[in-house]
Amino acid sequence: MLAVCLLTVMVTACGSSQEPPQVVEQIVVRERGAPDVAQTASAGTLDLVALGEDAFQTCTGCHSVAPDGRSAAGPNLYGVMGRKAGGLEGYSFSDAFAASDITWDEASMDGFLADPQGYIPGSEMLVGAVPDEEQRKAIIAYLAAQSK
Ligand code: HEC
Repeated sequence: MLAVCLLTVMVTACGSSQEPPQVVEQIVVRERGAPDVAQTASAGTLDLVALGEDAFQTCTGCHSVAPDGRSAAGPNLYGVMGRKAGGLEGYSFSDAFAASDITWDEASMDGFLADPQGYIPGSEMLVGAVPDEEQRKAIIAYLAAQSK
């Protein structure tokens, strides 16, 4: 009797499981789509961003890149690329930053990170220079990725 009951349950389960596999198939289709999207972003860029994230660990003591805009000792850097230097509201920049007429792009960010004091004399970012060009490139790619 018990065996018959079990068999009935299994048959019922089998019969009713005809729809779930269709749902699973849909999920698989979506998962296949994701890598395609990532591939169009070019593997090289993704590697550079990952390298930049590692290199940025020397900056996290002072800078957050979180979208919530919270600043620490240094200004929040979410969306910094394309922004005016010293333009983040709610953070008290040095006069040197406030007076500068720089909009952050690859060239200006590279110059600043190579020598913050030399690029913006009077900058209060006293540490954080990145002498290595490749590392600067990676950090800039990472910063560019931290935006909307
Ligand atoms: C000891 C703290 C400290 C560290 C470490 C530090 N910074 Fe800064 N950073 C600052 C301060 C303070 C400012 C604002 C300077 C001013 O107002 O003169 C700043 C400004 C900046 C700005 C300009 C932001 C804007 O809105 O214009 C960028 C970009 C930046 N830092 C990137 C970095 C990167 C990348 C690193 C790591 C390689 C780093 N910083 C490491 C303190 C720091």
